Amino acid sequence: MFPVNRLRRLRKNENIRRLVRENHLLVDDLIYPIFIEDGKDIKKEIPSMPGIFRWSLDRVNEELDEVANLGIPAVLLFGIPSHKDEVGSDTWSEEGIIQRAIRHIKKHYPNLYIITDVCFCEYTSHGHCGVLHDHDVDNDLTLENTKKQVVSHAKAGADMVAPSGMMDGVVKTIREALDEAGYKHIPIMAYSAKYASSYYGPFREAADSAPAFGDRRTYQMDPANRREALREVAIDIEEGADIVMVKPALSYLDIIRDLRNTFNVPIAAYNVSGEYSMIKAAGKLGWIDEKKVMLETLISMKRAGADIIITYFAKEVAKILKNEK
Ligand code: PBG
Ligand code: ZN
Repeated sequence: MFPVNRLRRLRKNENIRRLVRENHLLVDDLIYPIFIEDGKDIKKEIPSMPGIFRWSLDRVNEELDEVANLGIPAVLLFGIPSHKDEVGSDTWSEEGIIQRAIRHIKKHYPNLYIITDVCFCEYTSHGHCGVLHDHDVDNDLTLENTKKQVVSHAKAGADMVAPSGMMDGVVKTIREALDEAGYKHIPIMAYSAKYASSYYGPFREAADSAPAFGDRRTYQMDPANRREALREVAIDIEEGADIVMVKPALSYLDIIRDLRNTFNVPIAAYNVSGEYSMIKAAGKLGWIDEKKVMLETLISMKRAGADIIITYFAKEVAKILKNEK
């Protein structure tokens, strides 16, 4: 009798589909990025990222209350300092915007897990991810400043640090700096396979971190490369990364799967700003069903092999998951 294989039997209704479903989105998977701007009474929507705001510390609890109530486990902090300089010295100042933000959040939400983005581009006058030398970022000078930055984050109370600048040797440098300063327990989530992507456009408006000249192709990866991601990740694990990241996520699902098949560390996928904005824009125009496309996009990252998803959709997803229960 033909057809012998009737796979549609297991798709008959939602109950059987639930029973055979292979992947699930959970609130446990989510990390929510938050932009903190130095100043007072700021709740400024980012034009290209509807629903995402820059917050000053005196108002950020409006956002954090929601995050905490939804049970989202972690936030990823980005700072917009009141003043920038050549080297981004606000990043290691005890009174820097991120250091103050960490102390504020820890005081009001002791159970929220705080991850800090470790980079310089939001803090340098030229917008590059480190110290410049001859119109390019100097790797080893930047590592020196990175040590100061991570130790000051740890001192302020950060739970985890996430280096995103794509400097060679950054994971080992950070591990040693943290260990020496007495922070052996703080894990590193490395932006290991971070591509030089145009999908970061809206973020650079959000964080005011666009490079003043040139681009980031001398440090971030070429979008054409796949094998190189395996090398980047192998090195970062060797140097002590606890979690590795692929960024962006949607155009790089093959990379996530490669890593899942090769390594046993947890993998984070960064569903970046441009991926968020595209869905928001098409949804606004009525061209797609925004909510369904969002859920389909995020489950594709789980299916590819991600354990953790960093996403601007975190609150929306958490609300949907809560109402399903
Ligand atoms: C800083 C950093 C960037 C993002 C996260 N950390 C921007 C960049 O590399 O230019 C991008 C996040 C997003 O687009 O959502 N190095
Ligand atoms: Zn940067």
